Amino acid sequence: MYELVEKGEVFNVHEMVIKAPEIAHSIKAGQFVIVMGSEYSERIPITVSDWSADTGTITIYVLEVGISTLELAWMRVGDSLYAVTGPLGNPSEIKNFGTVVLGGGCYGIGAIYPIAKACKEAGNKVITVIEARYSSMFYHEKELHAVSDQVLYATSDGSRGKKGKVEDIITEMLENGVKIDQAFFIGCTQMLERCSEATRPYAIPTKVALNSIMLDGTGMCGACRMSVGGETKFACVDGPEFDGHKVDWKELNQRKSAYTEQETVVYQFYSNKQRTS
Ligand SMILES: Cc1cc2nc3c(=O)[nH]c(=O)nc-3n(C[C@H](O)[C@H](O)[C@H](O)COP(=O)(O)OP(=O)(O)OC[C@H]3O[C@@H](n4cnc5c(N)ncnc54)[C@H](O)[C@@H]3O)c2cc1C
Ligand code: FES
Repeated sequence: MYELVEKGEVFNVHEMVIKAPEIAHSIKAGQFVIVMGSEYSERIPITVSDWSADTGTITIYVLEVGISTLELAWMRVGDSLYAVTGPLGNPSEIKNFGTVVLGGGCYGIGAIYPIAKACKEAGNKVITVIEARYSSMFYHEKELHAVSDQVLYATSDGSRGKKGKVEDIITEMLENGVKIDQAFFIGCTQMLERCSEATRPYAIPTKVALNSIMLDGTGMCGACRMSVGGETKFACVDGPEFDGHKVDWKELNQRKSAYTEQETVVYQFYSNKQRTS
């Protein structure tokens, strides 16, 4: 069983350190796991943010958005997850690009960390840009600073760094002549699209980690099907990282929102039940 050995939270983002020795020995930056809180839970994909082969643990950051992430948020230290399957997906392609910009929002602040670390280890200049609604919503900052030459902040209310979003900082950098050789982004789909549009006019190679709906995570069910450069791809086995300038964002958003109504009803029911119990 996959014991939860540490837990923390910053607003609705939950840090979970889980005993999973086999995964901790083989995982690479950019890969994810599929977890089930209980025997009856949905299988949900979550990026592995950190790991230690010594302690046999992996660290994930879970943004509470619906019933399955709520179930994980309810778990306590000492509880065990029913299943943690992985590593899944392709590792990020890392080399010495030169200057790399990494952007993260919501769960992406944690999920971008292993890619930043791998880029630093490969000899790149690493600039990490993170966004949140307000200053106290940032997390994992010490770790990000340790692997970055520069960490830049964007907040919706202007309480820290630039008032705005990751793409506003990127646009400003590019307008000021900063040369960026490679960009990686992780966060909600809207952020990924906006950041890709910011780098497009400058033809900066841009990788986005997509968060499409997934079921099996092994290329069998087709749930994560999407189009990239006019070709059909499965995010689980062909990704999760793709060229942000080639993703069909409209189709991805349509497929992602296919069950919004049902997801909202079930989430409201269970979160109200928690409040009243
Ligand atoms: C490869 C991959 C890696 C991922 N890594 C992570 C990770 O490291 N951490 C993490 O928290 N999530 C990650 N996700 C997303 C995560 O899998 C989903 O958020 C999760 O499956 C939602 O399940 P749920 O039942 O809680 O919510 P659902 O009921 O499935 O969805 C609830 C509603 O929330 C909306 N929603 C989904 N994502 C967001 C968001 N970011 N912000 C606001 N609303 C949203 C959905 O559109 C939906 O309407 C990843 C997804 C993929 C494909
Ligand atoms: S999740 Fe089933 S094919 Fe990708």
